[in-house]
Amino acid sequence: MNTTHLDIVGERRAEVQAKAAAMGVDEAYVSELVNAFYSRIREDRLLGPIFDDAIRDRWGYHLEKMKDFWATVALNAGRYSGEPIQAHKKLVEVQPWHFDVWLEMFEETLKDTAPTPEAAACFMEYAVQIAKGLRIAMYGAGGSGHPVA
Ligand code: HEM
Repeated sequence: MNTTHLDIVGERRAEVQAKAAAMGVDEAYVSELVNAFYSRIREDRLLGPIFDDAIRDRWGYHLEKMKDFWATVALNAGRYSGEPIQAHKKLVEVQPWHFDVWLEMFEETLKDTAPTPEAAACFMEYAVQIAKGLRIAMYGAGGSGHPVA
């Protein structure tokens, strides 16, 4: 039988999921991580109001979207298709240093919940890279604090 593109995608997905499973990461953990992280965010005096102002009564939808996002990043689930850069550019009150606070809170959440140190390191590496990309898209490589038009 011929190998199709879909077979290759399926094999790649199975490989990524097997590596993740070896670190204790699966859909259930992604869900736990997202719930724990945004509970923490919502209680934070600095970031909580920024999220609440933007998300308002759409928290259920946001959490589902973020589970799809992290399952796509960490498990190659292929469920997220969104516009992260546009979504963050809209947030005019966000300053470059807020990303450091976000990352600190993400790291603390991983410390509390990750099934293994490898899983924590892996999620943290993704988050640092994505945060760097979002910051550059929003403020330019200098990260001056002035949003890029
Ligand atoms: C200071 C840092 C950050 C703030 C204040 C922030 C805030 C937000 C808010 C308020 C939304 C919802 C926008 C809306 O629905 O109107 C959002 C969406 C999102 N955020 Fe962030 N975020 C931050 C950093 C990050 C980082 C570091 C990541 C990834 C590692 C991330 C990933 C996403 C994704 C994937 C979405 C969904 C975008 C879409 O609609 O497709 N965010 N963020």
